[in-house]
Amino acid sequence: MTEILKTLRLFLLLMCHHPEVQTRLKAEVDTIIGTERFPCPEDRKWMPFTQAVMLEIWRYGSQTPLSIPHLCQKNVELDGYLIEAGSVIFPNLYAVHHDEVTWGDPWEFRPERFLNEAGELLPSDHILMQNVIPFSVGKRECPGQDFARSRIFVTMTSLMQRVQVVPPKNSNLPPADPRLYSKAYPMTEPQFECRFLSRENIII
Ligand code: HEM
Repeated sequence: MTEILKTLRLFLLLMCHHPEVQTRLKAEVDTIIGTERFPCPEDRKWMPFTQAVMLEIWRYGSQTPLSIPHLCQKNVELDGYLIEAGSVIFPNLYAVHHDEVTWGDPWEFRPERFLNEAGELLPSDHILMQNVIPFSVGKRECPGQDFARSRIFVTMTSLMQRVQVVPPKNSNLPPADPRLYSKAYPMTEPQFECRFLSRENIII
């Protein structure tokens, strides 16, 4: 659950920093969901930009930077390297998510990178999709990911339906750049305040 909260906190901070992304999210929410019903997880398949924002938050923030350590139980050879039995492996998701060769501009928050020219989500075999792995990969990948993906989607879209997220009036908004997060484990984005302004014409 903490991980869901961390994603939502970073979402709010990034919306304060990127009003243009928020405007585009709201436009997608208004078109697909409207103002007369609650969002549901099934709406996701018609909302590529919202999905791209979620992927970009997970990539950019890399909230579980070193995943969960694993113990290697027997000698394994991988790509010419010997990993000895008894070694502890820390999968470096943060490095995968910020590799300049893969991403080009990894320190930019740019959800559009996950969309093609027609505004559709890239196919799952695209190199960028293969390299966004917030829930890790393989047999031990996060068992809570379907739950997390659907809850985060419903919360984000419900907020976009109802409020405008804006920076605080009388205090500074900290930067969202992950290079500046606390290096304690797990890595944590800074504390911040923001304001919710009610949107007009909401029926539900
Ligand atoms: C944005 C939300 C979340 C993120 C980014 C996330 C990420 C991860 C990652 C990277 C791992 C390590 C996988 C590995 O060892 O290879 C993991 C493991 C795990 N996650 Fe999540 N998680 C999230 C939400 C959740 C939720 C909501 C639940 C439960 C309802 C959950 C339950 C677990 C459990 C039980 C494991 C350990 C699995 C094992 O060791 O076999 N996670 N998660």
